[in-house]
Amino acid sequence: MDNFPQKISAAVLVSGGGTNLQALIDGQAAGKLPSVQLALVISNRTGAYALERARQADIPALTITRRANGGTQEGFEAALLNALKNHHIQLIVLAGFLSILSEDFIRRYKNRILNIHPSLIPAFCGKGFYGLKVHEAALERGVKVTGATVHLVNEIPDGGRILLQKAVEVLPNDTPETLQRRVMEQAEWTLLPQATQLVAQQLLEEQHD
Ligand code: GAR
Repeated sequence: MDNFPQKISAAVLVSGGGTNLQALIDGQAAGKLPSVQLALVISNRTGAYALERARQADIPALTITRRANGGTQEGFEAALLNALKNHHIQLIVLAGFLSILSEDFIRRYKNRILNIHPSLIPAFCGKGFYGLKVHEAALERGVKVTGATVHLVNEIPDGGRILLQKAVEVLPNDTPETLQRRVMEQAEWTLLPQATQLVAQQLLEEQHD
């Protein structure tokens, strides 16, 4: 027996419906995240349904908006950092979090921030590509295959090291909404829990070295 912690404390940052957060909650309940403690959920949007999902799963949930923190990125990130510190967070999972974090913030959690993006990076990614916009762009371009990517976050939007990807077929009559749903069901909801467990396990191994 050793005294090393067996779980990494993770915060999930959200902005909307939180189906990816739900996938993490369900993954945890199913024993698929043995190295992860879902310790905190933070929404940058008031009233996001993801907050309700957190409450139902008994995970502490906070709303931290830019508006309530001086209306600046600095104020917003200072409040975020404070909450993360108070909850002893070691790993950050961006699950539909639609705000871009500064280089300074990212540096503080180097290799400890994951993001899920609803395309096969490097297609349809970077600034301005988020949520339904990604699927609209994929349909407009006429790709036959799209998918999802989980990557580490660095200073380039959607530019960090790719951890996992999964391809999903585009069907002839797809709308952005039907494509979004298929990408979530067939890729995002399995990839994000897998990648989160993978990174947490690596962090635990590093701690034990
Ligand atoms: C997901 O499709 C996620 O991949 C995407 O927003 C959606 C959030 O849904 N993220 C991005 O586009 C980030 N660039 P959810 O709130 O139901 O998890």
